[in-house]
Amino acid sequence: MFGRFRKLTLFIALALIFCTAAAFAQSLPQPAQAAFDRKVVSRVSAEQALEHILYLSEVIGPRPGGMETEWEGAQYIASVLQSYGYDVELQSFPVSDQYIGTVELASGEQWQLGAASRGLITGDGFVSGELIFVYPGTNPSDFPTNTAGKIVLMERASTTTLYRTQVANAESAGAAAVILYSLVGSRGNYGGAWNPSLSSSSPAGIPVLGAALIQGQWLKNMLDQGSVNLRVQTKQYSNLLSVNVIGIKPAKSGDPNAPAILVTGHLDSVVGAPGANDNSSGVALALELARVFRGYNTDKEIRFIAFGSEERGLLGSRYYVNQLSQEERDQILAVFNSDMVSTSYPLVTHLYAMTVDGIPNLVTDAAEAAGGRLGNSSILPGEFGSSDHVPFYQAGIPAALFIWMRVDSWDPLVYYIEKVYHTPQDTIDENVSLERMQNALDIIGAAVFDVSRKEVPALERSRVRANP
Ligand code: BES
Ligand code: ZN
Repeated sequence: MFGRFRKLTLFIALALIFCTAAAFAQSLPQPAQAAFDRKVVSRVSAEQALEHILYLSEVIGPRPGGMETEWEGAQYIASVLQSYGYDVELQSFPVSDQYIGTVELASGEQWQLGAASRGLITGDGFVSGELIFVYPGTNPSDFPTNTAGKIVLMERASTTTLYRTQVANAESAGAAAVILYSLVGSRGNYGGAWNPSLSSSSPAGIPVLGAALIQGQWLKNMLDQGSVNLRVQTKQYSNLLSVNVIGIKPAKSGDPNAPAILVTGHLDSVVGAPGANDNSSGVALALELARVFRGYNTDKEIRFIAFGSEERGLLGSRYYVNQLSQEERDQILAVFNSDMVSTSYPLVTHLYAMTVDGIPNLVTDAAEAAGGRLGNSSILPGEFGSSDHVPFYQAGIPAALFIWMRVDSWDPLVYYIEKVYHTPQDTIDENVSLERMQNALDIIGAAVFDVSRKEVPALERSRVRANP
């Protein structure tokens, strides 16, 4: 009896040890693979990446495609890549005109807004006046009798026809300029600066500016404190060139035709937005990987690319793909495109690796495998377009977008994204989390390094699927 009990205990103990060991063997990465992951994960630093976000979003500020500030961003990125020892190319391409407004406060502080192309373009000149708030402005009687010479601030009415009426009414009442601010934005954001669209049959003879919701609120708050005098300017910028920055790490063999991995992100922002998360974060991630990878030999070529004019229609990435020959396209193994990788918005849950069609590819597989090896459960696959991975996908090249958001499991069309993107509030203070940046650096860094080595066996071994 006692003997049988001892045997049973021994059996249970052995079974337990065996199971634990088996589980361990499964979850423990291969020692070599773990060492390779460590080479990346122990070195990439969100604090280092933050320096780049700081320069792009605060030292430079908004970087609309084709504008001088976009070029300043490009120069900064090029000089960082050069300081790491990479060969850098600036690839420029033409983009259409920008219409940009400026509001200058009495303090001299200036804000960037959109301008109506069919409103008065002041050029280098300014229109100044006292600011008044008019509501709603869709009726001529909404305007006070002393409107003449004033700069009129209004909430943008809900339709184009209605806001055109607001502008016409303001001009009839003698307004010196109109500022319309957004009440709603796209994809649930607060509403950014915008270009009011006036009809060609009734252009305005006064400057018409499109403000972000927050800019409208700032102005209204100032009005609550007392009278406000402003200067406004509207400018057309023509013959614009936008720019891609390309830094190349050659393959160990030195073979220029070796398979290439692209680590990308767009450097431009929308008008009026510092673009700390969208997308200084993605550029900063690429630069930080460039810093860490410079010391390592890789069997594949790695290209670090900052695209221009993404916000104007994926123009930089499209230009880049279009100018490649078919052989050059075939050379590209994988595109890791980071766009909005460090938001501090509390409601996002995961770092998504998004493909345009929702079908997993080498990029999403590598990212999931890296997450699995690192014991990091932040990463999930998903389906999304809207960024620079799209032109690569359309050319048949495996590409994915990395972005922090939350996608509802019961309805993939329902998702949560920070409300400040595309607005003046996309700043380090309001929209950057070092923890999320570190997560993205670890996972994307380990995945890129894994794919950049010869056999990529670890990828096959630890192929994981996230549970829905
Ligand atoms: N970072 C955004 C894309 C994005 C925003 C994805 C929110 C998911 C949620 C990107 O910079 C962007 O705004 N893209 C443009 C692309 C368009 C101009 C083709 C967009 O989606 O409006
Ligand atoms: Zn973006």
